[in-house]
Amino acid sequence: MSVETRKLIEKYDIPAPRYTSYPTVPYWDSSGVTSEKWIEELRHAFSKDDVRWSLYLHIPFCESLCTFCGCNTSITKNHTREDPYIEAIHREWDLYLKAIPEIGERILEEIHLGGGTPTFLSPDNLKKLLGPILAKIKGPEGVVMERSIEVDPRRTNEAHLKALREVGFTRVSMGVQDFDPEVQRLVNRIQPIEITENLTRAARGLGFHSVNYDLIYGLPKQSPESMLRTMKETLRLRPDRIALYSYAHVPWIKPVQRLFTEADLPTGADKRVLYEIAREALLGEGYAEIGMDHFALPTDSLYTASQGGKLHRNFMGYTSHRTEILLGLGVSAISETPGCFHQNEKALPAFEKMMEAGKITTHRGHLLNSPDRENREQILRLMTTLEVELKTSQLPDATEFLAEMIGDGLVDFRKDGARTFLRVTEAGRPFLRNACLFFDQRLREKAPQTRIFSKSI
Ligand SMILES: C[S@@+](CC[C@H](N)C(=O)[O-])C[C@H]1O[C@@H](n2cnc3c(N)ncnc32)[C@H](O)[C@@H]1O
Ligand code: SF4
Repeated sequence: MSVETRKLIEKYDIPAPRYTSYPTVPYWDSSGVTSEKWIEELRHAFSKDDVRWSLYLHIPFCESLCTFCGCNTSITKNHTREDPYIEAIHREWDLYLKAIPEIGERILEEIHLGGGTPTFLSPDNLKKLLGPILAKIKGPEGVVMERSIEVDPRRTNEAHLKALREVGFTRVSMGVQDFDPEVQRLVNRIQPIEITENLTRAARGLGFHSVNYDLIYGLPKQSPESMLRTMKETLRLRPDRIALYSYAHVPWIKPVQRLFTEADLPTGADKRVLYEIAREALLGEGYAEIGMDHFALPTDSLYTASQGGKLHRNFMGYTSHRTEILLGLGVSAISETPGCFHQNEKALPAFEKMMEAGKITTHRGHLLNSPDRENREQILRLMTTLEVELKTSQLPDATEFLAEMIGDGLVDFRKDGARTFLRVTEAGRPFLRNACLFFDQRLREKAPQTRIFSKSI
């Protein structure tokens, strides 16, 4: 990495949201978002005949805690918890269907199981969970609805994959993080490569046509050498997609991350070097870089979506289907419509209790006003296409706010007749989150008083 790039990283490595939503969660104004209001918003969104939607099911359980983890999890080895949880999700699903019968008539583009670890559930229980849901939905005509799941290879066997194929799942995302044994030890996640390799082969053999690996850069004791080794193994197994996440170090939210020795954590330019090493290796072997931190082979739907301008981003990260509604079921699950964000109760016992009582839970939410909607659309464009049209009235502000980034060649303006586009240059890609800050009116109006976001690099 050149001295100039190192200097840029030092300059722009500031706390910034990852923009899986706008407004970002810490800026939500929950006043007015009751469960009744949420149902009203959702009913309104589903009232359009041609509206398309996505469904997310959250399974919070994990058998052990990886110490880097920023997800909403419930750590347990007690598998008797599976049944009551499945029952709670079914109750929630029934509540929605009863309140909004149109749900069953609108085209569902995508269903995703995330967590936690969805394969904490037994193969039979996965089918039991999905059965009543799949029975009530309408898929797109002539196309296979995208069905995907996140799995922890340490807790997933061939029987899980078979059960999932039986209910039409064709995409599997495996948590890998890093193949280096020492890094794995430090993050409390021992996962010998054979486990990932065997599961990948099994998935392919069973007809999963897209295998994704989640990798993370910035974990303790990762080095350029260890990253090169991890990439060599990754390329040997050749997943269709790779999410190469920047380790989000947020110990004030996730105290377990305090277990790391801070000095072991690569930061700033040393951290970015790890991304660049992986990037170079992947681009050299036919992968395309997508958005901020994803890579895909040209045969994968994420690549086709990005080429066709259809790439989308929501709470699930980058996805290949743009839908107006995301309905999340399960504890802490987040949903969105054009006008509203909504998060379910975050504590598992309270969530299950509310489901028993037959009530939709609301932990928090946000009703989008008109500037929110405009900013959200512009941020989404920039995060997915690296370019966004500016309104004429935004130009002077953009020129001033982004002056340093323009001067450093990280963003520029592209003219097309009377239209002006803000564009993130190739050199600016690492700083995409920084460029989005321009459209984050809420953050600009009220800078956070305490640490809430991880750093942009
Ligand atoms: C729900 S987990 C994936 C499935 C399964 N639980 C597993 O770990 O294999 C989602 C992904 O989030 C990513 N992740 C979790 N905590 C993170 C953090 N602090 N920073 C960056 N990525 C993180 C990991 O790559 C992880 O695979
Ligand atoms: S990374 Fe996955 S397996 Fe590990 S604690 Fe987080 S959700 Fe659970």
